[in-house]
Amino acid sequence: MAFDLNTLQEKLGNKDITAAVIGLGYVGLPLSYTMFSHGVKVIGLDVDPKKMEVLEKGQSYLDSVSGESVAQAMEKGLFKASDDFSELKYADFIVICVPTPLDSEHKPDLSYVENTAREIAKYLRPDQVVILESTTYPGTMTEVVVPLLEKESGLKCEEDFHVAFSPEREDPGNKSFNTGIIPKIVGANHPDALDLSVKFYEVFISKVVPVSSMEVAEAAKITENVFRAVNIAFVNELKVIFDRMGIDVWEVIDAAATKPFGYMPFYPGPGIGGHCIPIDPFYLSWKAEQSGQQTRFIELAGEINLSMRDYILRKLSETLGKSERLDGKKLLVIGVAYKKNINDQRESPTFPLMKSLVDKGADVDFHDSFIPQILPMRQYPEFSGQNSVPINKATLKNYDAVLIITDHDDVDYQLIADESAVVIDTRNALRSRNIYGRAQVVLA
Ligand SMILES: NC(=O)c1ccc[n+]([C@@H]2O[C@H](COP(=O)([O-])OP(=O)(O)OC[C@H]3O[C@@H](n4cnc5c(N)ncnc54)[C@H](O)[C@@H]3O)[C@@H](O)[C@H]2O)c1
Repeated sequence: MAFDLNTLQEKLGNKDITAAVIGLGYVGLPLSYTMFSHGVKVIGLDVDPKKMEVLEKGQSYLDSVSGESVAQAMEKGLFKASDDFSELKYADFIVICVPTPLDSEHKPDLSYVENTAREIAKYLRPDQVVILESTTYPGTMTEVVVPLLEKESGLKCEEDFHVAFSPEREDPGNKSFNTGIIPKIVGANHPDALDLSVKFYEVFISKVVPVSSMEVAEAAKITENVFRAVNIAFVNELKVIFDRMGIDVWEVIDAAATKPFGYMPFYPGPGIGGHCIPIDPFYLSWKAEQSGQQTRFIELAGEINLSMRDYILRKLSETLGKSERLDGKKLLVIGVAYKKNINDQRESPTFPLMKSLVDKGADVDFHDSFIPQILPMRQYPEFSGQNSVPINKATLKNYDAVLIITDHDDVDYQLIADESAVVIDTRNALRSRNIYGRAQVVLA
């Protein structure tokens, strides 16, 4: 039986579409919101009972999606949160947004994608389109997802059902861009699959960018993230070099950024964090290795970005008295989220730094209004449950140094500059805001 193209085209023409979104995290929930805000009926599926509980009450666990919008969509019959995968049979499009982390050997862990493909296959019926949005290496759809879907469902791709890949470009905390207005790349290996997927995204995304294959779409996403990792490493290296020469790297970058073409500013920092930039390049390295290729830029970028921790430690030790040890020193770290103005602590470079400070004998507190309490982590269990301390005149006087690691906008930087003895500023947070005080400020 051939795929019933006409019926789905007609539904798309009438904007009468049902989509299942699998994985309602930082990507899946905002995506669902964008869909139901444009009239797409969304069945949101997740295996996390806590998320289901919140959504079923018409509430939200993300700042970017209000509980009110969830409640309204539920009332209108446009959104339903469920852990019952048999609901998949009602969907025209099935969109996968599950995690793609690394395993303990730093290799791609596709188990979430594979388990989801198996689960979909149980309910897959003819005339559905399955789209993967999770970041992964080129070839995942054709080599891993499609074989699983076909094997476990008994249906044939391109005959009974279609597939596509459309990478997610969500940037949590970015007030200028949201899912609906970020151009969306869509790749498919069959013209009907591409046409249907492009028309689907055009219902709720303002600009859709079709590409000729799933592999191109998969590679485009990895390219974007490797580009960031490499350029951040480049400016981090420049930071160290220019510091030796007595040149201020931030001023250099601002000056270079006045060139209206051929240059794009990246800024130095304490190293990279989050669930994308430190992880995704390894997906490409692993895949490249399979075909005997080396990814030298990726390896070097990883090495340089990691070395920022030692650079900050060196700057701190030099400032506090030339000793490598920090016994008895009281330190306050500003920001444990991996980037500013969000509450996500995953892969944050703050934790390895905090560990090194503690290992050197320091007593370390942190302040982060976005993360009042550190969530449990496999890698740094010693910090789990630690609470953010308030900053005020009295508390700041207790610290030998304050280290600005994540420069959330809601921090009272003037107070820090006025009341601290030493500030190690890894983000140029004070001077970029024109803040000066009595503290000795060291850029690191
Ligand atoms: N967060 C971002 O800013 C961002 C940006 C671009 C791309 N991505 C990529 O998008 C993907 C998802 O990332 P995220 O940040 O939303 O992850 P997340 O951890 O916030 O959310 C993933 C969700 O999937 C659920 N899940 C796991 N296994 C499942 C299964 N078998 N069935 C149903 N649900 C399941 C989890 O419970 C969780 O709610 C990853 O590949 C990531 O690299 C993320």
